[in-house]
Amino acid sequence: MNAPTLGLGLAGLGTVGSGVVLMLERNAELIADRTGGAVRLEVARVLVRDPSKPRAAAVDDAKVTTDWRQVVDDPAVHIVVELIGGTDTAFDIVAAALKAGKPVVTGNKALLAERGTELFALSREHGTPIHFEAAVAGGIPIIKTVQESFIGNRIHSMSGIINGTSNYILERMTTGGLEFAEALSEAQQLGYAEADPALDVNGWDAAHKAILLATLAYGFAIDPEKVHVAGIEQVRPIDIEFATRLGYVVKLLAVVREHPDGSVECRVQPSFIAKSHILASVNGVFNAVAVHGDSAGESLFYGRGAGQDPTASSVVADLVEAARSVEGEAGHRGFLPYRDDGKLLPVEETSTAYYVRFDVTDRPGVIAEVAKRLADAGIGISGTHSPVNPESPDADFVDMVFQLHSCRFGLLQDTLDQIEKLDCINSSPVVFRIEKL
Ligand code: NAP
Ligand code: HSE
Repeated sequence: MNAPTLGLGLAGLGTVGSGVVLMLERNAELIADRTGGAVRLEVARVLVRDPSKPRAAAVDDAKVTTDWRQVVDDPAVHIVVELIGGTDTAFDIVAAALKAGKPVVTGNKALLAERGTELFALSREHGTPIHFEAAVAGGIPIIKTVQESFIGNRIHSMSGIINGTSNYILERMTTGGLEFAEALSEAQQLGYAEADPALDVNGWDAAHKAILLATLAYGFAIDPEKVHVAGIEQVRPIDIEFATRLGYVVKLLAVVREHPDGSVECRVQPSFIAKSHILASVNGVFNAVAVHGDSAGESLFYGRGAGQDPTASSVVADLVEAARSVEGEAGHRGFLPYRDDGKLLPVEETSTAYYVRFDVTDRPGVIAEVAKRLADAGIGISGTHSPVNPESPDADFVDMVFQLHSCRFGLLQDTLDQIEKLDCINSSPVVFRIEKL
């Protein structure tokens, strides 16, 4: 069967958009063969901000526009691919495409985590699918896994490393000895970082992805404001050094977990993971998500979490599915809420062990002062260290580190608020989780 060629309205010709064009050029015939001739795709319109910019992928100038409406409205466009990022114009494009009955493919996790409720409702109202495999974990087919492969499983938990940029930075700081800014600059040059890299380093890119995974697994919309998010901008070489000395590695970890009362824990934080755990060896731009289903048990999905080609791989897979939906075959409709009573577990109620770094004025008794407040709160201490600055051994301000036994995060926060008021404490303590996975 040879179906008509379908036109793509490609919004964005940056890292991922260019990757999609290059991949289609390379593998269009393969896709046609594998679908028995049912899927033939070509780029019909392309949206950019600056048409004069040099591009990694060549497209006919006549197809390029700076007006997004042309990309959606052009009758030659059957499927709209949103790869511009952000939550404003991207929202307008996706909403207009859904209303026009044109299936949407997007890699925009910020858009779906922040405004997905409106867009998925539009998708259902107009019977137009939204595909978003590229929005989580780059080239790893984790959305399909949760939506389809695990559809018969109650998902107990999903935890993992889902931001390639921060994982890349942590590895370069750990093994390459780079400063944070140098490592970030490398990640940007490699096309891993968001247009606004603050989202990568402040944890929000990973949080957007965790929200999407949790939403799909547990059937209710999750309010981003209720999700606890901390990023790697707090990680200093001294933390990496301590982690190494204590047998851990530092990772930005997303944890999504259902509790026995049905509440859902969803959080992102720098965490210490035992060196022997499989996630500890997920390095560089690689991501990994451990999914625990009641029937399947534990499965681990590993692959490149960012970058041009891996992300294009997920977008193109979605394009084939979108094309099939245009041809009348069943396509999924984005997210279908099915739970009215879904609730997030407040982060204060979550418990793990912790690593806490204090910036203290070095004087006799300072360890005892902090230890007393912790003991008064019933928080157990499993280790404490007060490193000397080798460049200035008599420095007044030093980092003092405590390893703490498992306790409620809320209790720890309240206790640290009290400790922060001591006159020997110079700034807010930095807290990382010590995760037992
Ligand atoms: P990018 O390299 O910054 O490319 C963005 C493209 O969109 C550029 O071509 C830009 O035009 C165009 N654009 C942006 N705002 C526009 C506007 N208002 N009007 C018209 N054109 C506009 O971004 P990217 O890395 O490809 O990421 C695109 C999306 O994919 C984002 O949602 C991102 O979160 C997601 N994603 C990225 C990766 C990755 O590894 N990079 C992985 C997964 C998902 P100009 O080129 O003219 O400036
Ligand atoms: N900036 C994102 C990351 C791109 O580094 O993981 C992939 O979503």
